[in-house]
This record gives sequence, C-alpha cells and structure tokens, in this order.
Amino acid sequence: MKILVTGGTGNVGGAVVGELLKRGAEVRVLARKQPEADKLPAGVEVAIGDLLDPVSVEQAMQGVDKLFLLNAVVTDELTQALIAYGVAKRVGLKHVTYLSVFKVDQFRDVPHFASKLAVENALREFGVPYTILRPGYYIQNDVNLKGALTGPGVYPMPIGTAGIAAADVRDIAEAAAISLTEDGHDGQTYDVVASTMISGPGNAALWGKLLGKEIKYTGHNFDQWEQGMRARMPSWSAFDLRMMFQGYFDRGFVSTETEVARLTKLLGHAPRSYEDFATETAKLWKA
Ligand SMILES: NC(=O)c1ccc[n+]([C@@H]2O[C@H](COP(=O)([O-])OP(=O)(O)OC[C@H]3O[C@@H](n4cnc5c(N)ncnc54)[C@H](OP(=O)(O)O)[C@@H]3O)[C@@H](O)[C@H]2O)c1
Repeated sequence: MKILVTGGTGNVGGAVVGELLKRGAEVRVLARKQPEADKLPAGVEVAIGDLLDPVSVEQAMQGVDKLFLLNAVVTDELTQALIAYGVAKRVGLKHVTYLSVFKVDQFRDVPHFASKLAVENALREFGVPYTILRPGYYIQNDVNLKGALTGPGVYPMPIGTAGIAAADVRDIAEAAAISLTEDGHDGQTYDVVASTMISGPGNAALWGKLLGKEIKYTGHNFDQWEQGMRARMPSWSAFDLRMMFQGYFDRGFVSTETEVARLTKLLGHAPRSYEDFATETAKLWKA
C-alpha cells in the first residue's frame, strides 16, 4: 500500500512518514522542491508539486492508495486543501486522513480553524472514506522557546491561566498511521489531546523547575502580543494566531476524560504529556 503525505517535510508530516514506514507502508511525499538528502528516510519517494497546482497534485497521486492531508496555515489553506481533496476523489483514492484541529467547530472566527471546518464538511459530504484528527496545541511548539526560556527567563505564549489541551506530535503521527494502515477508522473523528492541561503560569513554573531559574509568564495582553508578532510574521498570520489564543482564553480549550480515553484506546498507550516533553527537552538543552 502506498500513501501520499503532504507536509512530509514539516513537523507532523515528517513524523507521519516515520510511523507509516514502521508499519510497512510505502510512502511518497509531496514537496515543493527536492528535500535535502538527509530530510527524509531512505526509500521515501518524492513527488515535486504544489498544493496550489492541481496538475502536479494529480501526478503525485498516480499509483497511490491513500492520502495523509496536512495543510500549512496560509491564506489559501482552504483552496489548497480542497484541490487535494477534489483530486483524491477524482483519481479514486481509498482513504484520506485529514489533519484538522481540536474544537474546530467552536472557533469559527479564527481563519485557519474556519478553513479546516470547511474541509471537514467536504470530507463528510463527498464520499471518500476519511478519518479526521483534531489535535490540541502542539507540545513541540515550545521547542522554539529555548531562547526566551534560557535567556531572559520568560514563557511568552499567551495560553492563559485556565489550562488548554496539548498534543504531542508523536501521538498525532501514530494516530495518523494507524488510521491509514488499519481497518475500522473510516468516518471517525479523533481528538488528539493529552490528559494534563497546560497553562501559562503552569508552564513557566515547570520550565523554572527544570532549568533551575525563575521563569515569568508574560501574560495575555492580546493587543500587545499581536503587535509584537507582526515583526516576526505576516500581519494576517499574527491576527489569525491572536484570534486563536484569545478564543482559548474566552471560550476555553479543555479536553475531557472521554476524549483522552478514546485516544488512549486508539494509540494503545496513554498520550504523551507536556511535562515529559519538557523534562526531555531541558536535559538536551543542558547537555
Ligand atoms: N502548531 C500547533 O499547535 C497546531 C495545533 C493543531 C493543528 N495545527 C495544524 O498543523 C498544521 C501545521 O503542521 P506542521 O507544524 O507539521 O507544519 P509545518 O512544519 O509548518 O510544515 C508545513 C508543510 O506544508 C508544506 N507546504 C506548505 N505550502 C505548501 C504548498 N503550497 N504545497 C505543498 N506543500 C506545502 C511545507 O512544505 P515545504 O517544505 O515545501 O515548505 C511543509 O512540509 C497546520 O494545519 C496547523 O493549523 C497546528
């Protein structure tokens, strides 16, 4: 069985490639340009193409059985996703596993959530067998905080105080590979969420303990945060993320025991925790 992975050069897609290979699947990655030699494991095929170019997407799907569909957060995310979905339907792929996001239906004012909700609706309506994965805040996002944590000693993500659901990328990848290589997942939607919520003050305290220094949570002044992010990303993207974090704050982003139990059953083990990730990561940084 051959599976096409979009986003295979990125965080989640790269991990999905590894999990699919472990399960004996053949893997082809759609990439916009030839990845560097050490980027993908041996034996992985590369199809050069762009999700905005249906012709290249159709070529990439030739000889493929199933699709793992991940779209980057871009202004034309919905168009890219529906091109991939429409071509997958036309060429008769047997299954699409789609990477959505936790509580997608409750954040319809957040541009990248609204795109994903529209894609989920298409998956449910147009007949290709599918599985939807809805992960929480990626635990591995916080690898990028090394400078802030080890330098000035701040935890800068405005994730609030109430606690939000997090997801380890390795669990997302396992869930994706299971849905693509085992029976029984057609039409299923799985929340990918760890059992312990994370919060700004909680993460600051945890990193403080692990790094042996005081770490301050910088809080959640969303105007200020969005303004700061405009220096680091396009302003539409800063707006999109601000709407997401503000939504977490206003509406909550908490997982339930039922959602965690369902994921535990799917994976065959408890979801990985933020604390374990932080402990492993702090050790690596110290070394
Ligand atoms: N971060 C979170 O906390 C979180 C939580 C829940 C859901 N999500 C969702 O996760 C997704 C991002 O996952 P990630 O972190 O693994 O992404 P990532 O590391 O940023 O990778 C994005 C991938 O998309 C590919 N790509 C971008 N534009 C493309 C195009 N036009 N045609 C073909 N490929 C294209 C990139 O390939 P190139 O090598 O060509 O650039 C790359 O492989 C988003 O949909 C986001 O909403 C994120």
